[in-house]
Amino acid sequence: MKFFVDTADIAEISEMADTGLLDGVTTNPSLIAKSGRDFMEVTKEICGLVDGPVSAEVVALDHDTMMKEAEKLRRIADNVCIKVPLTIDGLKTCKKLSSDGTMVNVTLCFSANQALLAAKAGASFVSPFVGRHDDNGFDGMELIADIRTIYNNYDFTTEILVASIRNPVHVLQSARIGADVATMPPAVIKGLFKHILTDKGIEGFLADWKKTGQSIL
Ligand code: E4P
Repeated sequence: MKFFVDTADIAEISEMADTGLLDGVTTNPSLIAKSGRDFMEVTKEICGLVDGPVSAEVVALDHDTMMKEAEKLRRIADNVCIKVPLTIDGLKTCKKLSSDGTMVNVTLCFSANQALLAAKAGASFVSPFVGRHDDNGFDGMELIADIRTIYNNYDFTTEILVASIRNPVHVLQSARIGADVATMPPAVIKGLFKHILTDKGIEGFLADWKKTGQSIL
C-alpha cells in the first residue's frame, strides 16, 4: 500500500519524506489556504520534495476553464497529478487529460457508481472520502470494499486512494480491503508507528542494558 501525506505544509512533508516511507502528497484548496502560501509556488516546492505524485486541485467548475488550469498546473513539474472533482465537467477533463498521458486524481468520491465513472474516465486515482462519509452516517469502509470489488471485476487500473482518513484504524481497514493508497494527515502517519508495548519494551531493554555497563560504540 502506498502512503501519501495529506497536507501542503512543507515542514510536515519534509519530516514525512525523511522517513523514506512517503510515496506522494495530496493537497486541496483548503490545505493550500491553511498553508498561507502561493499555490503555484508551494506546489513546485512540494514536487521537489517527493518523487511520487503530488495532487494539485483545479478550482474551476466548467471543463474549458478546468483544462486551462490543468495546463498551468501540469507545467509545474512532471510529478504533478491534476485533481478534479467528481462532476460531469470534472470527468470530461479527466478523460481528456488522461488520454494525453497526464496523471489525474478524481476527488470527492462518495459512491461506488461515482468510482466506476472515474475509472471509465481513465483516472489514475479515485479519492473516496471515508471520514466525511462516516461523519454523515454512511460506512466509509463499505464504500472502499465496493470500489475494490468493482475495479477487480473489470480489471480497472485506477488506483483507490483512500482519503479523509481520520485514524490508524481507517488505514488498517483500507489495507485489509486492498486499497492501493492511503492519504493521511501527518498525525495519522505518526500514529501508525506507535504502540504502548513498543515503548515499554524499549524502556525495559534499555534499563537492563544499562546494568551490563557495556556500550556498542
Ligand atoms: C484528499 O485528497 C483530501 O485532501 C482529504 O483527504 C480530505 O480530508 P478531510 O475530510 O479531512 O478534509
